Amino acid sequence: MMNAYAPYSEFCVGAALLCADGAVYTGCNIENAGYSATNCAERTAFFKAISDGKKAFTAIAVCGGKNGKLTDALVSPCGICRQVMREFCDDDFEIYLVTESTVKTMTLGELLPVSFGPDALKQP
Ligand code: THU
Repeated sequence: MMNAYAPYSEFCVGAALLCADGAVYTGCNIENAGYSATNCAERTAFFKAISDGKKAFTAIAVCGGKNGKLTDALVSPCGICRQVMREFCDDDFEIYLVTESTVKTMTLGELLPVSFGPDALKQP
């Protein structure tokens, strides 16, 4: 979160992705003047891990807030990030929504039910 590049929204987000082998990859949001090219913290963490050859993941923690100040409001992964997680994780992948005072644990299956994943494109 401290490394977020968020000059437009000033909303700084951090993520920590736990790989099945115990490695942890962090990520931050990286905004862009062309807004749509913004990359969320969760995807940054995933793409760093994937590009390092990691293939199995256990959990991700996410937190954030305006100017990097945590509140009790949940920062929940956007739809694009949920779909990226679905590419590499099963429904039981855990997502820790970290606020100033609590941690709410949810699964990918809860956040992205009836999802479209890699299996859907396999030949019958
Ligand atoms: N953002 C994330 O990085 N992760 C989330 O879970 C929600 C939103 C970023 C995208 C953008 O840079 C800023 O927060 C405001 O939407």
